[in-house]
Amino acid sequence: SSSSSSSSTSSYNATQQRLPGAIIIGVRKGGTRALLEMLNLHPDVEVAKAEVHFFNVEEHYRRGLAWYRAQMPLTRPAQLTLEKTPGYFAAPQVPARVWDMNPAVRLLLIVRDPAERLVSDYTQVLHNRLSRHKAYRPLEELLLRGGRIDPGYKALQRSLYHQHLARWLEVFPREQIHVVDGDALIRDPFPELRKAERFLDLPPRISASNFYYNTTKGFYCLLSAGHDKCLDESKGRPHAPLSSQAFNTLCRYFRRPNELFFEMVGRSFSWC
Ligand code: A3P
Repeated sequence: SSSSSSSSTSSYNATQQRLPGAIIIGVRKGGTRALLEMLNLHPDVEVAKAEVHFFNVEEHYRRGLAWYRAQMPLTRPAQLTLEKTPGYFAAPQVPARVWDMNPAVRLLLIVRDPAERLVSDYTQVLHNRLSRHKAYRPLEELLLRGGRIDPGYKALQRSLYHQHLARWLEVFPREQIHVVDGDALIRDPFPELRKAERFLDLPPRISASNFYYNTTKGFYCLLSAGHDKCLDESKGRPHAPLSSQAFNTLCRYFRRPNELFFEMVGRSFSWC
């Protein structure tokens, strides 16, 4: 699994583009890029580098599976093709479409503290707008109306994991969705990757020596084929400010939704 030099030596039988055997479906800002790049360290995994947005964007979906396949990397028959599009998780039309493509596809869902995720989501939109020289209202204004959470705020809705997962579970059996702890992946990627390898039926090939902690970045970076690589600067950047009072209101708001999510996945997380 590398797009660099080593693939040229194995390309004699890197014959074909294939539909994905596994998809990282979300969540947005959960660590989807880190998970994709880290799984790509595995020799039996090849990834679609760009987000594909096939099942959630009508214009793409209308182009059909041939178009989808054409977005995939070249693989040998024994390799797993993996793509990630965080927009899939919260889009209602997607689960049935994924099932129609392949009812045996394996789904990876990386989650993170929903309050932190929301602030990260806002921060991303803010940066996108600033880069287009547009203004954006402060987070607190979008989040609160008269001191109460505004349930219409999109980034808030994207953090209601139980609502979105419920739709996936109407279509896919629970065992087909592997939940990755995004906060654990930040702190210590290796154990989460070992679990993901197991879920994907891959022999354990990713090791602790594939990572080093970059003190400048404050995150783990990847070591592969002799060079090191951190995720780009849009990953792990400082969050937009939010008063601790507003953050606490947010944490209280998520308490019940989080419990519902924990019941759904049969496991709990230490979120705020
Ligand atoms: P923040 O920028 O809020 O810290 P996604 O790729 O789904 O957009 O997720 C982005 C998040 O991945 C980042 O959110 C960051 O916390 C997390 N992440 C996990 N592992 C990382 C790593 N090794 N390097 C950089 N970011 C990482």
